[in-house]
Order: sequence, then structure tokens, then C-alpha cells
Amino acid sequence: MRLPLPEPTLAGMRCLLRPWELRDAATLVAAWSDPEVRRWLPVPDHADRAAAADWIAGEADRRRAGLALDLVAVEPGRGVLGGPDADPVGRPGNGSDVSGEAGADVLGEVGLSAFDPERGAALIGWWTVHRHRRRGVATEMVRLLTTWALGPPLGLEVLVAEVEPGNPGSLAVALAAGYEEVGRRHDGRLVMAAGTVTGAVIGWGRGV
Ligand SMILES: CC(C)(COP(=O)(O)OP(=O)(O)OC[C@H]1O[C@@H](n2cnc3c(N)ncnc32)[C@H](O)[C@@H]1OP(=O)(O)O)[C@@H](O)C(=O)NCCC(=O)NCCS
Repeated sequence: MRLPLPEPTLAGMRCLLRPWELRDAATLVAAWSDPEVRRWLPVPDHADRAAAADWIAGEADRRRAGLALDLVAVEPGRGVLGGPDADPVGRPGNGSDVSGEAGADVLGEVGLSAFDPERGAALIGWWTVHRHRRRGVATEMVRLLTTWALGPPLGLEVLVAEVEPGNPGSLAVALAAGYEEVGRRHDGRLVMAAGTVTGAVIGWGRGV
């Protein structure tokens, strides 16, 4: 299943969501090096620029293979550099942001993975850049991607977030974005779900 990009671009009061571009590599390195991100999310051991560039370059392939859809949040006024056919090596597409600042506009990331076609389910994850926290960015980007993923063309039934009970910020984001607790994983993480058939994800919590 090839995963489509949101079209038109998802945008709210605080951010719009666009694909990763190679110029964002420095931001990704900084995020992977952020102790808070490392504490709560699986990130590469070697968080250097080459690893970040590789990861970004692979984003379109992961989307084409139906593995993951990862987007960055930028300020709404910054515009979109690439659009749906953005070149992962960073050449400008049809958009208007030609600031050239290396990822300086990135506020955070929100992404979907672990697609389960039988259940119509996927896992959602997120982080925000340290200096942009506590401004409602995470809540808005999670809301935007969730609402989009539950409608056409993706049409998922349910989105699942796995949240450590000791991560109050992330728990607050999930709740504010409309997720509710539906179970617990064996490792203690809360299984939070948004969608039409929340009962279907109880098995997710047990099985993973
Ligand atoms: C958790 C995280 C995503 C929150 O991002 P954010 O952009 O600051 O979130 P928001 O501004 O949308 O905040 C939403 C709510 O969470 C609350 N909140 C945010 N961080 C918090 C914290 N550290 N402790 C307590 N509450 C917090 C906010 O006050 C807000 O609640 P309110 O609307 O009632 O005031 C961010 O701190 C982060 O990236 N952490 C590291 C990575 C991570 O934990 N990812 C999630 C893994 S499941």
C-alpha cells in the first residue's frame, strides 16, 4: 500500500505539516540528541548528520512501501518548500519557502507507522523541538494528522498512540488531541486510541 501525502497540505493555527527535506537534517540530529526525545522515543545510537540525511532520504521509499508516513510541523506562514512531489535531496518544489535556513522553521514531527490493514490501524508518534514546546504545537499536529488519517483517502479505522504513563506532556497531548486510553501494553505503556472502533485495538495492547 503506497501511503499518500495529505493533499491539500494540513494546516492549523500553529503549524502546517510538510514532508521532511534534506535541509532539516540538522534539526533531526538535534532532536535525536535531545535527552527528552531519547528518553521516550527509540532513536538511533549514532545521531549524526549522515544518519539523519539517510533517514530523510529514505522517507519517500518508506511511504511508497506503506511502512511509514512522517511529516514535520512548520509555522503556517513559512509555506511549503516541496509539496507532494518534494525532492528529498532538498531541491525546491513549487512552494514558496525559499528561506534557505537549514531546518530552522521545523517545530516538530508527527508520523504514522506499523500499519495494520486488517484492523485499519496505524501507530502515531510525535515530538516537538525543545524551544517550541508548551505552545500547543504537538496537540495541533497530532489532531491534524489524526483527523486526516481517519478520513479519505487513507480511511483508517483507528489510530493508536503508545504513551509512557510517566510522560505527562505526551499524555496531555494525546488526551487533548482526542485519544482515549483503551489498554496497557505488557511493558506498562498506555495504549491510547482515536477512531471509530476503539474496541479493536484492545488486542493491539495485548499482542505487541
Ligand atoms: C511531549 C511533547 C511532545 C509535548 O509537546 P508540546 O508541543 O509541548 O505539547 P503542547 O504544547 O501541545 O501541550 C499539550 C498539553 O500538554 C501539556 N504539557 C506539555 N508538556 C508537558 C510537560 N512536560 N509536563 C506536563 N504537561 C505538559 C501542556 O501544558 C498542554 O496542556 P494544556 O493545554 O492543558 O496546557 C514534547 O515535550 C516532546 O517532544 N517530548 C519529548 C518526546 C516525547 O515525549 N514524545 C512523545 C512520545 S509518546
